Parts: sequence; C-alpha cells; structure tokens
Amino acid sequence: MVLETVVVAVWAMLPAYVPNNVAVLAGGGRPIDGGRTLEDGTRILGDGKTWRGTAVGTAAGIGVALLLNRISPLVGGLAPEPFPVVAAVSLAFGAMLGDVLASFLKRRTGRQRGAAFVGVDQLDFVVAALALTAVAATGWFLETFSLAVLVAVFVLTPVLHVSTNAAAYALGLKDEPW
Ligand code: CTP
Ligand code: MG
Repeated sequence: MVLETVVVAVWAMLPAYVPNNVAVLAGGGRPIDGGRTLEDGTRILGDGKTWRGTAVGTAAGIGVALLLNRISPLVGGLAPEPFPVVAAVSLAFGAMLGDVLASFLKRRTGRQRGAAFVGVDQLDFVVAALALTAVAATGWFLETFSLAVLVAVFVLTPVLHVSTNAAAYALGLKDEPW
C-alpha cells in the first residue's frame, strides 16, 4: 500500500532529516576545518560546517529516533520496527557526515559557501545516512528498507528538502533557499 510505504519511509528517515535543519538553527562557532585551506587555496569545508551545528544536529536526530520509538505504539502497525540505538546514531550522524562530505566536494569544485549543488544538496545526507546504517545496523536496515520504501525515500526526500529549506529561508532562518 502506497500510504504505508510513505509512512515507513518518512518515519525511518526522520532521524536523518532533522539534523541538517537543527544544524541551521544551532550552527556557529568554530568551523570543523579550523579555517584551514588545501593546496587549491580553498577552505577544506568552509565556515558553514561547525562543530556545534554538527554535534547538536546529530544529538537532535538521535533524540528524534528515541522519541519515535516511544510513540510508535500509538500508531499501531503503521510504524516500522523500533530504531536500534546504533541505527539512531548512524542515521543522524550519517546525515551530518553526508552534508560535510558534500561541502568538501563543493569547495573542491570551486563552489563558495552557500552555493547550490543541485542533486548533491538534496541527497547527500540520505545516501550517507543509508550507507552508514546499512553497515552499522544491517538487520534493521534490511527489515525496514524494502525496495518500495527506498524508492519512496529517494522520491520524497528532494521534495521535503526543497520545501523545508524554502520555508526556512522565507522565515529568515536560512541565508539561501536551498
Ligand atoms: N551548519 C553547521 N554545521 C553543519 C551544517 C550546517 O553549523 N554541519 C549551519 C551553518 O551555520 C550553515 C547553515 O547551517 O551556514 C546552513 O547549512 P548548509 O546549507 O549545509 O551550509 P552552507 O552555509 O550553505 O555551506 P556549504 O556551501 O558548505 O553547504
Ligand atoms: Mg547551503
């Protein structure tokens, strides 16, 4: 059933969706790369990737997974299997890692901080979160992500990403609408 597939996809990915948005609100302070540049003269990651944003974003994603585990009895059979703690961590941290790796790629390809990188911006965190989770919590991953759920994730994520970022921009929380 399509609705069930969509519910499982969004539910299982929420711990990976939340970190990037929380990082926007919590970011600031010391950049992860400490201001360093590579031989190409460009920052390793840039000022947009901070320790605080990454840590608070990851913690928020883990918190969301634990919260979803608590409320899953309320939605009956619709929710997927509860998140094992390793999956909570790999989804949240994987999302932040994907975003950081994307910034590394952006800098290497001459994109300034805040520049758009179509495709990468929308899917970096999903690919990294799923890959890390497939390795760290294989049993749960295989049980939760059927092919249909994976397809739903890859269709829904860009839509959700574009709309939440546009909303955050409209609210003045984000500097660019992507
Ligand atoms: N942020 C952070 N730490 C992260 C990710 C995001 O502090 N790991 C905060 C930063 O304040 C950043 C904002 O969230 O400016 C928006 O995130 P994002 O769009 O990912 O960063 P950009 O500033 O656009 O930089 P980049 O071009 O490297 O993506
Ligand atoms: Mg950006």
